[in-house]
Amino acid sequence: IRTLSLFGFMAIILSGCGRENLTALVPKGYGAEESFKVILISIAVMTLVFIVVMTIYTYVLIRYRQKKGQENMIPKQTEGNKALEVVWTVIPILLLIIIAVPTLTTTYDLASTEGKEDAINVNVTGNQYWWHFEYQGEEIQTSQDMYIPVGEKIYLTMRSGDVIHSFWVPSISGKMDVNPENDNVMYIEAYEEGVYYGKCAELCGESHSLMDFKIVAVSQEEYDQWVTDMQNVDPEATPESTTAQEGQELFANSCLSCHAIGSSPVAVGPNLTNFGERSKIAGVLPYEKEELVEWILDPESKKPGNKMSNAPYLNDGSIGEEEADKIADYLMQLKPSEITTKSAE
Ligand code: CUA
Repeated sequence: IRTLSLFGFMAIILSGCGRENLTALVPKGYGAEESFKVILISIAVMTLVFIVVMTIYTYVLIRYRQKKGQENMIPKQTEGNKALEVVWTVIPILLLIIIAVPTLTTTYDLASTEGKEDAINVNVTGNQYWWHFEYQGEEIQTSQDMYIPVGEKIYLTMRSGDVIHSFWVPSISGKMDVNPENDNVMYIEAYEEGVYYGKCAELCGESHSLMDFKIVAVSQEEYDQWVTDMQNVDPEATPESTTAQEGQELFANSCLSCHAIGSSPVAVGPNLTNFGERSKIAGVLPYEKEELVEWILDPESKKPGNKMSNAPYLNDGSIGEEEADKIADYLMQLKPSEITTKSAE
């Protein structure tokens, strides 16, 4: 009973219940839908096997149990049964074929790159413990939140900047390893607008479980607007408030060597162009100023093993609570849809 309830408990945790759009069991995109069909076929076959085996098992237990007065009786001994052996060899082969055919066709279908040339192509880089997205030909670099238009296939060319990660957005896509040595290509497509939660699905270090990201699926119009906004960001635009202006200067001195605003290819740390439009800090923390200040002052306590924990400013005392507060003001007003854009100047 204890083992059973443990399994039940694990099943609930693993199914990711409680969080919308973080489940493979309610597919909302092509890759997830096709994977789900394969899951259903496997479950159907396994259930069938389970029922047949258990029925035979129960029957044999009852039919051949020891009866009163037979305590010392030796049952009839048989050796070998050709017919039976053929049956229990052929049936599993057939069952495996039933599982293998759809598995293989789905695998090849989801790896197809037909139409890739004309589609939106994004280079995805997995890093300990964040994701970088570079839109090919658009001069857009971003991190953590990836914007896509609904109903379109988006091709992801994925590579790792350090160790092996795995890109997985259960509700809309299959799962794909992200390796340091070679590119893996996968496409994703969301049927409905919405935010889809993604997880790193390969143990990659201390903060593997905190390597979350999001796919934000919007209408084609909103997507085009997003692209325009992102492309027109002026990385040096002066913020309105004085504290944010001071924050901008502090940011330039202490943070810009790793982070970038705008389409700069610097990607030691996450690109922060649209930081003001995020719903999480560092992918996992609540989007609140206090959290951001704490994160700047002590990233190690929030996401152990992340590279920002080695930032020089943490040791030279140049950023205290007051400074971090100003940097937070600056970062939180970085909204490409609102801030001064190149085209508006
Ligand atoms: Cu990256 Cu786990």
